[in-house]
Amino acid sequence: MDIFEAITGRRNIKLFRPDAIDEATWMKWLEAASYAPNHRMNQPWQVIVIGDEARVKINHKPNFGDAPLVLAFVAEGSDKPIERDENLVAVSSFIQNFSLAAHAAGAGTRWTSIGNTPNTREILGVTDETATIWILGVGYPAEVPEVKERSPIETKIKRLP
Ligand SMILES: Cc1cc2nc3c(=O)[nH]c(=O)nc-3n(C[C@H](O)[C@H](O)[C@H](O)COP(=O)(O)O)c2cc1C
Repeated sequence: MDIFEAITGRRNIKLFRPDAIDEATWMKWLEAASYAPNHRMNQPWQVIVIGDEARVKINHKPNFGDAPLVLAFVAEGSDKPIERDENLVAVSSFIQNFSLAAHAAGAGTRWTSIGNTPNTREILGVTDETATIWILGVGYPAEVPEVKERSPIETKIKRLP
């Protein structure tokens, strides 16, 4: 798949088929994701594989779109705002790499914000309050949402003389 096609064709998948993804396959996506840029090679990501028990406790509605695999991506925290921001940016890149690798293989991801609730943090055992957590459902799409058109990029560019 051409890189532009991969980037523009990726959608946030709302509903998945039940078919499992081979562990070797999603590990390969994680391995590729780890080539994300990160400051001082600190690799500030951790991945938590969320099993059925934890998933029930998290009680996401609507259940991560019935994804066969649910992963939490944890950005290491810091008391220094700049370090925390850098870690979050690096982990965002990691997640995007992962999502693109999944998409290129005909799978997809559903990004959720539920990772940052106190209840979910406790279930995941993330005690550092400055860490940031994103949970993604991963699987083969049952349906692919329509593209959400973006603003013309020129409207986001400021040109200095
Ligand atoms: C930081 C972040 C948090 C998000 N949280 C949610 C969420 O809680 N629920 C959800 O349905 N989508 C969530 N999304 C996905 C966006 O809704 C989605 O990317 C956006 O609507 C654009 O759609 P697209 O990714 O299919 O182009 C999140 C995305 C990001 C980057």
